[in-house]
Amino acid sequence: MSSGGPVRDAREPCAPWKGGRVVLGVCGGIAAYKSVQLARDLTLLGATVDVVLTGAARNFVAPLSFEGVTGRGALTELFSVEGAALHVSLGREADCVCIAPATADFIARAASGRASDLLTTAVVASGAPVVVAPAMNDAMFAHPRTQANLARLDAAPRYHRVGPATGYLAAGEGSGPGRMTEPCEIVDAVGRVLGGGGELSGARVVVTGGPTREPIDAVRYLGNRSSGKIGVALARAAWLRGADVTLVTGPTTVPAPDGVEVVRVETACQMRDAVLAVAREADAAVFAAAVSDYRPREVKSGKIKRREAGNSLTVGLTANPDIAAGAVARMKAGSVSVGFALETSDLVARAEAKLAAKGLDWIVGNRAGEDGAGFETDTNRVTILGRGVAPRELPLMSKFGVAWKIMDIIEERLGEGVEG
Ligand code: C5P
Repeated sequence: MSSGGPVRDAREPCAPWKGGRVVLGVCGGIAAYKSVQLARDLTLLGATVDVVLTGAARNFVAPLSFEGVTGRGALTELFSVEGAALHVSLGREADCVCIAPATADFIARAASGRASDLLTTAVVASGAPVVVAPAMNDAMFAHPRTQANLARLDAAPRYHRVGPATGYLAAGEGSGPGRMTEPCEIVDAVGRVLGGGGELSGARVVVTGGPTREPIDAVRYLGNRSSGKIGVALARAAWLRGADVTLVTGPTTVPAPDGVEVVRVETACQMRDAVLAVAREADAAVFAAAVSDYRPREVKSGKIKRREAGNSLTVGLTANPDIAAGAVARMKAGSVSVGFALETSDLVARAEAKLAAKGLDWIVGNRAGEDGAGFETDTNRVTILGRGVAPRELPLMSKFGVAWKIMDIIEERLGEGVEG
């Protein structure tokens, strides 16, 4: 699922991109114009980006465009005054090499280990993970040689492929698989390379998010104002740290990274079934969904008509299952569980009571009605409570920032589990 936009969050330096060294290789395809945006976004997120253009790439976009957005000289020549061993130092210093767009020719050369220009030489000289974003005409992509070359790269542990996407290709070329993945997805693929390597790498993480909708009749439901933003932010933060993530979410329009498994549900009972199906395998679970406490006892089959119901309508409600409590009871030893508590008063006391009642390891409390916090906002101010530790108050920050902090806590706890 791609949002189509360049980046998903505030464009300011943040983990996992901040401090990362990225070599961005740009090959000769029309999608190269999007690589300027990619270079800009990675730079704004705090990465040091060295752009290497192939000879063909310079027919589509000028080195100066990249220099303008990265503040660093774009590189083009294998044999130049910049130093004979430029390819070696570029490759050695990189934390991630990202090739976008990767043309059929680059893929062929990389698959056979060629080192015929600065870019392929730097790839061969580097031990860093390589993110490859193919982009080409659909017939070129479908060609058996291209497919065989891609299969070779896919089989190599160092290579991480993003795309191609299916959609409109360059003017007059129709549509099909071959379109370069949008820069926001490539930014996240680079982020996963930079953010992996910790305790969450390879861990299974389950996240609940969004509201639930409990049907009253064929067209109406009982719901709440949850946007699903924090659920997606949590899923994305865990995925960026290398986890295998399942996001079980009620209706939301917020896109998650393509690598996250998204299970879409409407009701609390559907959410419970989806969560319990994966809870036993989970190393960590974060319950951020705003689950309706009650659902209508009976769901009318058609649409309730005012003419028939009259001026007063009573809808009988029954309690929904507690998804978090049910899942925590099934989770394996050594796993970590985190809940959320949205409160209008007595935040710490109420959140602590929920922490104990649901058997959670941590609970993230936030106050309803506070400016910039709670439902529908992009920011939140939370207090994190655990068992036997002092509450940690975090300042107002982006929901992604909150999600990243929660992943810090989970990672720390998983690390303790391994040592103990
Ligand atoms: O609604 P409440 O304040 O009890 O929610 C606290 C935590 O429990 C949240 O993490 C929420 O996602 C979870 N919850 C749940 N199932 C419910 C109610 C709440 O998983 N039926």
